[in-house]
Amino acid sequence: METAGTDKNPLLEKPLIHFGRRVLERTTPGTPQAGYRLLEITPMTPHIGAEVGGVDLSRPIGEALAEELRQALLEWKIIFFRDQREFDVDAHLALSAVWGEPEPNPFFPKGDTAGVSRLAKDAAAIGQENIWHSDHSFMTAPALGSVLRAVEVPSSGGDTMWADMGAAYDNLSDAMKRRVEGLTAVHDWEPSWGTFMTPEQIAALRQSLPPVEHPVVVRHPRTGRRTLYVNEPFTTRIVGLPEDESRELLHELGLQARIPEFQVRFRWQPDSIAIWDNIAVQHYAVNDYYPRRRVMERIAIAGVPLS
Ligand code: SIN
Repeated sequence: METAGTDKNPLLEKPLIHFGRRVLERTTPGTPQAGYRLLEITPMTPHIGAEVGGVDLSRPIGEALAEELRQALLEWKIIFFRDQREFDVDAHLALSAVWGEPEPNPFFPKGDTAGVSRLAKDAAAIGQENIWHSDHSFMTAPALGSVLRAVEVPSSGGDTMWADMGAAYDNLSDAMKRRVEGLTAVHDWEPSWGTFMTPEQIAALRQSLPPVEHPVVVRHPRTGRRTLYVNEPFTTRIVGLPEDESRELLHELGLQARIPEFQVRFRWQPDSIAIWDNIAVQHYAVNDYYPRRRVMERIAIAGVPLS
């Protein structure tokens, strides 16, 4: 059996079929191994997701800790903290400031504090985030990351999943890598969020949020790693391809986030916190808890244009 990344195995041309090992690099090969003095890192898979202990995020974050947090996020792409009981909205803002400025989501209900979205789901407000996506990819400079805090969680269900899109790129066949090389795609909020809006609301928001284009394979802005950057709700077409071909290619690329070897899944408890690298991963909020209640608060961190 051939390994991923060769052209010899016809099964590799079927987007979800694969036998044997996958190529699962935590970081770009050759990246120096990170060392941590302050953080206790417990990997959840070999390449994506780690629980982090040894830190109380309600206390002021000095530069040494901030540097280790940034390093851990680049290495693991999603880091989790449990039992952060004293963590409040000021601590939430201070934690996200380790990476940058908050970037409000134009569609999420706002929390009491600027930049903080409150996602309160129950029988009356049903979760809509159960689709693989990358936050704010419809913006010129999509969010660099997000910091999500569990306020109230159901006794079972309501997990979140993340998929490593660098691993997804690495595991494309050589033929597919050649096919997507140099392509760009249009990202647009209207086909998803627009379904909840009136034509007047859509027209008004179009002024400030027109469709944007990003490369289909981006270079991660901090690590330079090649990363597949198309997602189901927001990527609407590939520039320059006939409509049928664009739809078929986007479908195939969109399926990659569904491959279990690329994923990590987190079981929330009250006072859990997750921080993810929004360019390196896509995420999916599992909507299996209806009609029970689940409340989260999220800060998205402003990003940079992608290349
Ligand atoms: C989101 O940012 O899509 C929400 C994730 C979640 O509620 O688990």
